[in-house]
Order: sequence, then C-alpha cells, then structure tokens
Amino acid sequence: MAKEFDRDSISNTLIVAIGLSLVCSIIVSSAAIVLKPVQQKNEELFRQQIILEVAGLMEPDADVTVLFEAIEERVVDLESGDYVEGVDTDEMVTIPDDLDLASIGERARYIPVYHVMKDGEIEQLILPVYGKGLWSTMYGYLSVAPDGNSTRGLQFYAHGETPGLGDQMDKEDWRAQWDSKELYGDSDQPQVRVIKGLVPDGIEGGEHMIDGMSGATLTGNGITGLLQYWTGSHGFGPYLNNFRESS
Ligand SMILES: Cc1cc2nc3c(=O)[nH]c(=O)nc-3n(C[C@H](O)[C@H](O)[C@H](O)COP(=O)(O)O)c2cc1C
Repeated sequence: MAKEFDRDSISNTLIVAIGLSLVCSIIVSSAAIVLKPVQQKNEELFRQQIILEVAGLMEPDADVTVLFEAIEERVVDLESGDYVEGVDTDEMVTIPDDLDLASIGERARYIPVYHVMKDGEIEQLILPVYGKGLWSTMYGYLSVAPDGNSTRGLQFYAHGETPGLGDQMDKEDWRAQWDSKELYGDSDQPQVRVIKGLVPDGIEGGEHMIDGMSGATLTGNGITGLLQYWTGSHGFGPYLNNFRESS
C-alpha cells in the first residue's frame, strides 16, 4: 500500500518554511534595489532643501532643484583650506583628542561646502558642521558671510536631543540670533559660543555670544564645542582664514 502523504511532517514544514523565507528575501532585496535610486534622490533633495533654508532662500511650494541653481558646490581640503577637485572624499583623518571639541573622533579630509551666489559674487558660505550634544550627534549647516567672520545662520537638521529641552535649537527665535554674530572678531581663534542664560545687553564680547537654552545647558555646550571645532584650526579655520585675509 502506498505511503499516505503527511502534510504535517517535519520535512514538509521545513520545505514550506525555507521556501517562504526565500520568496520573502527575494521580494525584500528586489524592493531595496529598485527603491535605492528613489531614496538617494530624496536624500539629495532633503540636503538641498536644508542648505536653502539655512541660506534663507527656501520658499513655500518652490521647486528645490530650481532654487538650488543659485548654489555652487565646491570641495575644500581642510588641511590647506584650498579648493580641490578629483579627490577621494572618503579619506578620513583622525582628530587628536585635545582638538576634538566636537567629540567625533574623525572626519573627512575633503568636505563639500556651498557658495550662495548673487550677481556672480559669493553672498554666503554654507559649511556642514556636526558634533555631540547631550544624547546624540547633531548635524547642521552654518552660514558665514564672505568676510569669513560674520555668521548668517545656523540650522540643525538631525539630532536626538530631548523635545522641549535640547531641541530648542530648532526654534526660530533662538536660530534668529545666528544672523549677525562674529566667529572670531579680532582673534585668530574661534570665539563664538552659547552661554548659560541670556546675553546681557551691551556686554563686552556680546557679538560672540548666543543665549543659552533654558534647562539645556549641556546641548548648548555641545553646540559651542562643535562650532569651535569646525571653525578652528583643525576644521574650516584655514579655509575661513583665506576669506578673512582677503576681505
Ligand atoms: C529626561 C531628561 C532629558 C534631558 N534632556 C536634555 C537635553 O536634551 N539637553 C540638555 O542640555 N539637557 C537635558 N536634560 C537636563 C540635563 O541633565 C541638565 O540638567 C541640563 O542640561 C542643565 O541645564 P541648565 O543648567 O540650563 O538647567 C535632560 C534631563 C532629563 C532628566
């Protein structure tokens, strides 16, 4: 007598489970491959939008790609502060502990920056900046006037600081303070910093100070640290110095 087909046997269960896993993994991998270009395009659009926002050029319902035509991308060699082309942007540099005010350990040697152009002249320099806050790495862009000293804006687009505390950095009135501060003044070292409490009217050095965020001094300290790193001699200092010297 022929052996009866047992659909609940261990071998059948295994065949069905393996078959199902194979089919599912093929579907997931194909979706990842098909969606990758869409994801990359969206990431690029998001990056362009943030750069336009920190430059004050973003308009509601505007075509980001069209607005971004006013912006020129260049790559800077942080060691010399000069523009370079055709370099390996994956090359990383270890940051010596005593200079690592942003607590990031390493950074790329060659970094893209953005020129906001107006009538053929550079109107703003947009620099990527990032570093540790209290809970997270905070990623943003700093806008600097072509004198290499005056700030035009600072905007973070990704961080994990606490809502209502560290995330006050995203509030419009706090960000508005970054419109007209001085990174260096007469010094060759970065001076700009977030203080504890409010900047008193008329205080000496007030042009370098930003109001602290209430209950979030540690996030503010992180912002000070990352800005001092990125505008210092191991960051964009040599690059900004080229602009300071020629202005
Ligand atoms: C749950 C929790 C979340 C917090 N999140 C933040 C934060 O995102 N940023 C921050 O600076 N401080 C945060 N703090 C407060 C810090 O521990 C610290 O007290 C504060 O930064 C000191 O700032 P202050 O001197 O302005 O009060 C948090 C505290 C708690 C209990």
